[in-house]
Amino acid sequence: MPKLLTKSIVIASDHAGYLMKEKVKIFLSKSKIKSLDLGVFSKERVDYPDYAKKLSLLVKKRSFYGILICGTGIGISIAANRFKKVRAAVCYDKISASLARKHNNANVLCLGARLIHFKNAKKIINTFFSTKFEGGRHIKRVKKLDK
Ligand code: RB5
Repeated sequence: MPKLLTKSIVIASDHAGYLMKEKVKIFLSKSKIKSLDLGVFSKERVDYPDYAKKLSLLVKKRSFYGILICGTGIGISIAANRFKKVRAAVCYDKISASLARKHNNANVLCLGARLIHFKNAKKIINTFFSTKFEGGRHIKRVKKLDK
């Protein structure tokens, strides 16, 4: 893994993202990133807004980076983006992961477990957590998100 933005992240998923979350945690620990798992802890059906909320409150308060996983990444990102200071981006490939960091300073990566393979998820994670915000013309735009 290239040089990372952070050594610890928070992670959460709904039931559709549970298995991928478990794999992602192992991948992160191999890459020396500590993950704080906020659930879900089984494949039992849950509602993704509840897990997006748990994670978003921590990101908002403690400036953590996060990973959220649901079936598509879409529902959980919509839910997370209702919280100030959370900039959640669904990424399906390395390009979207890189631009979400460079232009949007995204702090939460959302993955769609039913739509992407784990091999691709690992590439997305590597890219997202090693790409810096470009700043410059993007600063004032990102600031406006919280106004
Ligand atoms: C759960 O079945 C599924 O709807 C959810 O994981 C997610 O894909 C919603 O956006």
